[in-house]
Formats: sequence, structure tokens, C-alpha cells
Amino acid sequence: MCNNCNLNIDAERTDEFGQKLLQIVNHSALSFMLSIGHRARLFDIMSEMEHATSEAIAEQSGMNERYIREWLGAMVTGGIMEYDPVLKTYFLPAEHAALLTRAAGSNNFATTMQWFSVLGSVEDQIVDCFSEGGGVPYSEFARFHEVMAEESYNSVVCGLFEHILPLVPGLEEKLNAGIEVLDIGCGSGLALIEMAATFPQSRFTGFDISEESIGRAQASAAKRGVTNVTFQVQDVSQMNLTNTFDLITAFDVIHDQAKPDQVLSQVNTALKPGGTFLMQDIAASSNVEQNIANPLGPMFYTISTMHCMTVSLAQGGAGLGTCWGKELACSMLEEAGFNNIDVQELPHDIMNYFYTMTKMS
Ligand SMILES: C[S@@+](CC[C@H](N)C(=O)[O-])C[C@H]1O[C@@H](n2cnc3c(N)ncnc32)[C@H](O)[C@@H]1O
Repeated sequence: MCNNCNLNIDAERTDEFGQKLLQIVNHSALSFMLSIGHRARLFDIMSEMEHATSEAIAEQSGMNERYIREWLGAMVTGGIMEYDPVLKTYFLPAEHAALLTRAAGSNNFATTMQWFSVLGSVEDQIVDCFSEGGGVPYSEFARFHEVMAEESYNSVVCGLFEHILPLVPGLEEKLNAGIEVLDIGCGSGLALIEMAATFPQSRFTGFDISEESIGRAQASAAKRGVTNVTFQVQDVSQMNLTNTFDLITAFDVIHDQAKPDQVLSQVNTALKPGGTFLMQDIAASSNVEQNIANPLGPMFYTISTMHCMTVSLAQGGAGLGTCWGKELACSMLEEAGFNNIDVQELPHDIMNYFYTMTKMS
């Protein structure tokens, strides 16, 4: 008998599930309001204000009071802000501001909330893919490179010197002395620019297939005034470089690839003997049952269906997906020629594992 025909369903279980769905409705709605609060800088502004009326917040932000008041309604009913019904004032508690403002750096959840509208911009095409297969290319996503740059500022740049580079013993000394560094799929290049500014004796190269992101990276490097970094439009599955780099980094890149096996093998060839590959990739298992307890499980599979997997499939690629997982990652790295892979989790980034390995001669 099919489930829907079964009259002996557990009413309590259905009720509990209904409560969960109700929460999902409200939390999904709030994700848009949190994203808007971030983009309009309202959390940053309100974190510096005492209890204030919507008029005072509008005046301070220079924005429209009617929109602000409606948005504040979502913030109050959603438990993000406090409201005094007598004085009609709104307040962002410092404990909440600590997770919602730009000053919060890697703790800023509001940056991540922007992904839902980015994904929503391609929902129609994704639904078509469910019946027709294929994928949606990077170019179809509204604001992808802009949001990615903000997200990776939090997960890479904010932890670069304190957490990420120290994963490789002696690396900072080598960077100070002067080495060749490549970042594959560099996006807007913020991590590379930060390293180039800090280690003037080293030379840094960023490759990305996207003209938009390379343009953004070149503009940021020029603005920062760093001259030891070069950005180039390049498909990293076809680099064809041998024994060229002392360090290659890949921040949140490999699982999106059309040809991830080819990219990893090209990385191995492009490294000098003794050189290091440092790969940041999603903290998940290759097995769905081991991701049930993952605090970001639904987020990972959603972002995969609506971005990471589909951009790869759009190129006729492998479509590994966000949850290709540690098990598959390690076996693909071994197939590419790496055999001393270390996998670490870092305190500033709950979304990713950090893989480090050395190329043997
Ligand atoms: C998820 S984003 C990460 C960007 C950047 N590493 C960061 O942390 O901000 C993946 C990047 O890989 C780039 N990419 C995808 N396939 C590529 C390929 N075959 N060659 C070079 N870049 C590629 C995309 O254009 C995109 O910028």
C-alpha cells in the first residue's frame, strides 16, 4: 500500500513534521531579510546605535523609512532584534551583532545568507535540468563572483596567516625568502593579493576561467598597489606547466570542476619536486548517511544541486557536487600522484577541510 493511502499514519509524527515545515517557512523568509540587512549595511549601522525608532534608523542610514520599518518587523518577529512597543524602538543586541556585521569577519553569517537569492536567480533553469539533464553555467548566476569574494574573504583571508599557512611547516619562512605561488580558480583573487602584499619577495599567479573574476582580481591588485601578482584567464585543466611552482593553492575550487581528475594531475605536474599543494574543500563525507549529523548538510546539498554540481554538468563535466567528500577527495588526490595527504579542520571555517600534501620527486 502506498504511504498516502495508509490511514493509520502517526498523527503526532505528522504534527511534529508540520511544526518543522513551519519553521522552515519562517527561516527561509528570514534568510532573505538577513541578506538584505547585510547588503544595505543595516546590521553594521544598527550595531553602533542604541534603541532607535525606524525614523532614526532611516535617517542614520539615509534609506527609506517605510522599507526599513517592514524589514524591522521581520527582524523582531524572527528573534533577530528586540522591540520596545511603548517607545517603538528597535535594538540589535551586541551578541547578535557579533554574528551579523562586517566587523565580525569569519563569524558573519549575514554574508552567507546572500547565497539563497543567488541560487534563486537560476531556479527556473535548475527545474528544467531535473527533466532534461545538463546544467546551468556560471554566467547565469546573478552576483556569483561578488558574493564568492565576500564569502572567501571570511573563510580564507580572515584565517590565512593565523590558521591556514601555518598548516605547512616552514611555509612562511619560504614565502619570506621568495617562492613561486599559484592559486587555481582564484576568483576575485583576494587571498593571493593579501599574500603578495605580505611576502614581497615571492611571486604570485592566479588562474581563473572567468573573465569577470580575473578583471575583478586585476582591479583589486592595482588598487592595493601590489606588483608581485599576476592574474590570467586560464582553464586550469589545461595549464600544461611542469615543475614551475613551490606552492599551489585551491580554495573551494576542485569539486566545481568539469575535469577534476585532470586538474589534480595538472597540479601535481606543475609543482616542483618537494612543492606543496594546499586545498580547501567542503567538510563533508562522500556518504550521505555520514552527512546527516553535519550541521550544514542541507545547505551543502542545496548549494550543490543549484550551483556546484550544475556548473560542472553544464560543461559536460563530472558533476562531483559539493559533497564529493573526504573519502573520494583523498582517493582522487592519490590517483593524481599525491601520497602524503594531511586533512585538518580549522576553527575559523566550519564549512571546509584543509588538505595539504607534498609532491615527491
Ligand atoms: C567556488 S569559486 C572559488 C573562487 C575563489 N577560489 C575563492 O575562494 O573566492 C570557483 C572558481 O573556480 C573557477 N573555475 C571553475 N572551473 C575552472 C577551470 N576549469 N579553470 C579555471 N578556473 C575555473 C570559477 O570561475 C570560480 O571563480
